[in-house]
Amino acid sequence: MNPLFKSHIYKARREQLSTAFSAGLALFLSNEESVANYSANTYHYRQDSNFLYFFGLSIPNIVGVVDFERKKSLLFGDDFTIDDIIWMGDQPKLATLAAEVAVDEVRPYAELVNYLKNKEIHFTPPYRPHNKIELSRLLLKNINELSASVSLIKKIVSLREIKSVEEIEQMEDAMNIGVKMHATVMRYCKPGVTERELFGIAEGLALGMGNGTSFPIILSQNGQTLHNHNHDLTLEKGRLLVMDAGAENVMNYCSDHTRTLPVSGSFSDRQREIYEFVFQANMAAIENCKPGIFNLENQKIAVTIITEGLQKIGLMKGNLDESVALGAHALFMPHGLGHQIGLDVHDMEDLGENYVGYDETIQRSNIFGWRSLRMAKNLKPGHIITVEPGIYFIPHLIDIWRNEKKFADFINYEKVETYKNFGGIRIEDCVLITEEGHRVLGTPLPKSVTEIETILQS
Ligand code: GLY
Ligand code: MN
Ligand code: MN
Repeated sequence: MNPLFKSHIYKARREQLSTAFSAGLALFLSNEESVANYSANTYHYRQDSNFLYFFGLSIPNIVGVVDFERKKSLLFGDDFTIDDIIWMGDQPKLATLAAEVAVDEVRPYAELVNYLKNKEIHFTPPYRPHNKIELSRLLLKNINELSASVSLIKKIVSLREIKSVEEIEQMEDAMNIGVKMHATVMRYCKPGVTERELFGIAEGLALGMGNGTSFPIILSQNGQTLHNHNHDLTLEKGRLLVMDAGAENVMNYCSDHTRTLPVSGSFSDRQREIYEFVFQANMAAIENCKPGIFNLENQKIAVTIITEGLQKIGLMKGNLDESVALGAHALFMPHGLGHQIGLDVHDMEDLGENYVGYDETIQRSNIFGWRSLRMAKNLKPGHIITVEPGIYFIPHLIDIWRNEKKFADFINYEKVETYKNFGGIRIEDCVLITEEGHRVLGTPLPKSVTEIETILQS
C-alpha cells in the first residue's frame, strides 16, 4: 500500500469538509486503472487527488462517501478474490485499509446505487471517461446532465490550497527529487548527448526516488514550444536546452522546476542578455511573494521587467505601461506566471482553473497572455505557487502578428525577425507563502548565469 498520513488527518479533513454542508453527501470516485493497448496492460496508476486528500488510499474500484446527514464516512468496494491474489499476492482487506484512514463503514460496491437513492449528491467534475459513465450509472442521469457541485468545489479549494505542515514536508521531499533530476541533467548536458538520454536520466531518477514524474518531462532545444515533449535531437553547441520537469513523491505531492542551459557550457552574449531578463523577472516576482498580495501583481512585475528588457535591446518600444496593459509582451511570454501546486502539478485544475486561481475579488482577463494566468488571487500563508516567467521566439506567432501589424507601436518586428532561431528561455521555482513572506521550496538549484555556467563547466 501507499504510505499514508496518520488516520486522524484524513478524518479531520472530512470533518472540515462537512462544516460547509448540512444535508446530502459528497461522492468521491477512485480513478480506475487506465488501459494502454489491451486491458491487462495498463498505464502507471494514478489515484484521483481529491480521493487522496480525503481518503488517502491509492487503489482503484472504490468510492468514498462523506455523508453530511449521518455524519459518517464510508468506503464502498470489494475485497480481492483468490483469482486476483494468485496474480497480485496477498492483499489487505478493505476494512483494514479503511481503518488506516479512519473511515467509519465499509460496504460492498453493489450497495452504492441504493445508498445514493433520493439523496442530495455532491461530486467534483469527472475528467476520466470511465468515471463519467460510472457517475451516470450511479446517479441514473445522462452523462450530459451530470452537474458537478460548485459548493463542493469551492470548499475543497479552500481546504486543499492551504498546505499543512505535514504536506509542506512532502512538498519539500518532491522538490528535492526534482532538484536532483535537474542537477543531474546539468552534469550530463553537453554537445553530442541526446535529448532522449537526458530525458531518460531525469525520468529514471523520478521513478527511482518517488512515484515518477509529476507531468511528462519537457526537455528540448526547441524551447520556444512551451510544452515540447519531443526528445529526438542531439545537443548542439550554441543552442539552449529548456528542461521543465518535476517529481511526484511517494505520497503523490508534486514539484515543478524549469531551468534553461546553454549546451556549450556558457551563454552567448545574446542568450545571456535574454536570460538575465527572465532571471530578474523570476527573482523580482519571488521577492514580492507575501500574504495579501494578488498574484496578478507578480505577473505584472514579471512582464514589466521582461518588456523593459526587450525595449532596452530594441525588440520592443513605446510606452512601457501601455505595452504591458495591452499585452504586447505576450508575443514573447504568452503564458501566465504560474499556478498552485500540491497533489497535482497544476493543483486542483480538475475542479476548474477559475475556482483555484480566481474568486469574487478578482476576475480573469480576456487579453491574450494575461488570460493565461492560472493563479491571480490574493496570496495566503500555506499557498504554494510556481513562479515561471519566460521569453520565447515562436516563429509562427511572430509571422502572424507581423502580418497583422499587431502592436506595431510596441514591437520592432525588423529586429525580432533576427531572433527567430533563438529558441526559448523559462525559469521556474516553487514558492511557499509564509506568515512572514515566502520560502522557495527545495534545496537551491543553480539559477543565475554564473551558477549555471559554473555547474555546466565543472
Ligand atoms: N509543467 C508545466 C508548467 O510549468 O506549468
Ligand atoms: Mn513546469
Ligand atoms: Mn509550472
